[in-house]
Amino acid sequence: MPHKKSFYITTPIYYVNDKPHIGHAYTSIACDVLARFKRLDGYHVKFLTGTDEHGQKVEKSAEKAGVSPQEFVDMVSESFRELTHQLNLSNDDFIRTTEPRHIHAAQAVWKKLEESGDIYLGSYSGWYSVRDEAFYAESELTEDRKAPTGAPVEWVEEPSYFFRLSAWGERLLKFYEEHPDFIYPPSRRNEVVSFVKGGLMDLSISRTTFNWGVPVPGDDKHIMYVWLDALVNYLTATGYPDENAEEYKAFWPADVHMVGKDILRFHAVYWPAFLLAAKIAPPKRIFAHGWWTNEGEKISKSLGNVIDPQQLISVYGLDQTRYFLMREVPFGNDGNFSRAAMVQRINSDLANNIGNLTQRTLSLIFKNCEGRIPTPPHAYGADREKLLASIRDLMDRQAFHQVLATIIDIASAANEKIDREAPWALKKDGTEASLAKMRQVLYELADDIRVIALLLQPFVPASAGKILDMLKLGEEARHMPALTTPLPPETVIDKPEGVFPRFLDE
Ligand code: MSP
Repeated sequence: MPHKKSFYITTPIYYVNDKPHIGHAYTSIACDVLARFKRLDGYHVKFLTGTDEHGQKVEKSAEKAGVSPQEFVDMVSESFRELTHQLNLSNDDFIRTTEPRHIHAAQAVWKKLEESGDIYLGSYSGWYSVRDEAFYAESELTEDRKAPTGAPVEWVEEPSYFFRLSAWGERLLKFYEEHPDFIYPPSRRNEVVSFVKGGLMDLSISRTTFNWGVPVPGDDKHIMYVWLDALVNYLTATGYPDENAEEYKAFWPADVHMVGKDILRFHAVYWPAFLLAAKIAPPKRIFAHGWWTNEGEKISKSLGNVIDPQQLISVYGLDQTRYFLMREVPFGNDGNFSRAAMVQRINSDLANNIGNLTQRTLSLIFKNCEGRIPTPPHAYGADREKLLASIRDLMDRQAFHQVLATIIDIASAANEKIDREAPWALKKDGTEASLAKMRQVLYELADDIRVIALLLQPFVPASAGKILDMLKLGEEARHMPALTTPLPPETVIDKPEGVFPRFLDE
């Protein structure tokens, strides 16, 4: 078997203190799009998601719910597993940090850091935010003594192990310099570089005042700081610490860790520092996406405006929701959810543009060409190589919105073509020249639809699949390299059925 190129992509692992919301769905869908694209483009893909189950925040939520932490995490983790089905995610694994495989890996990384001399025992006194699971310096706090994120902080004094992060600043800056694609989008890079240039303090990496966590090897009065524990999940899932594990060899270092902008520092500063210290290669890219607001307001539990992905799906449809999230906002920027924008996107892009094009073209072929894709007098589709190259490039930069904009442009141009060439009038005209022209136009439109559906697969897998079914395309013909292979003429099609219904506002 030819050796396939591998591609490893991860979502953050989600805290199980609460149920899934739009932010979780957003990151997961973005990863799913890239994972599906890469699979269709011939890569051997591993797509990982899962849950972050340790730490004080989760322990407190369990207490509040009146159950043991283990019972609590079992229950909430299940709702994140369900989300993977509700969103039609193609993840290959679902990791939980309470699993033995993970505890083993987290302790192995700890031992590596100890061996390299990067850990020492001291005592921490300073500010901690349970909501952010993060330590803050006095100078970072706001005037009303909150974390920069707005989260409450508390004073903590306890014995603690430290990671010598202060010794890693120069090496991190060198690493960023040598890996200009490590932090994406490029605008986020400066933010991280100036944070590191500002000087790094040693990082407290263990806690002693509660015990819901991974025990520190050799000192079980301490549990590991939840972020050190959590970050290791990306390694655990490849079989680490078994460096001969097939998946470790195939997939590490990861290609993309997709994260929200709020957790960029943990992934772009702490994580590569831990890995470099442990002599493990850092991931190739950290992509930080933006945050959603709801009808212009910050989403928060206290405002009661949290968006439940399950509810969006039941009102608007799954593929419609996936499409909206990927199309509405340039990936990397913040975005605003509004009902009006959602309905507008569904109707203008999906129903009126792609949906109408498909329905009109295939109905004309069904009626005017005896249900067969006509043979065009002239070859069509000379620019497909270029198109595929540009889509690959956009995908490699996680510019999902631009891929969708490209698809929409193809659909708009095809709709203009159908109006301009009026194949129904050519049929009516009936001369040999007109009929030949009609065959050419309908073939071109059908092939445009094929290209649109092929490229839409990662974004709206079920709907794109229906269009490709209508064109009677087999599995091979749905892979990305098949973009350059024109639609086989004389294929017999069935009477077409609508794929993207209009959303009728009450
Ligand atoms: N457990 C950590 C991640 C550990 S990874 C080693 C965590 N979990 S989280 O559940 O709080 O957040 C998960 C993701 O949801 C983050 O990437 C965060 O940016 C994202 N979002 C949370 N609210 C969001 C919005 N309103 N909009 C977009 N994404 C948001 O952090």
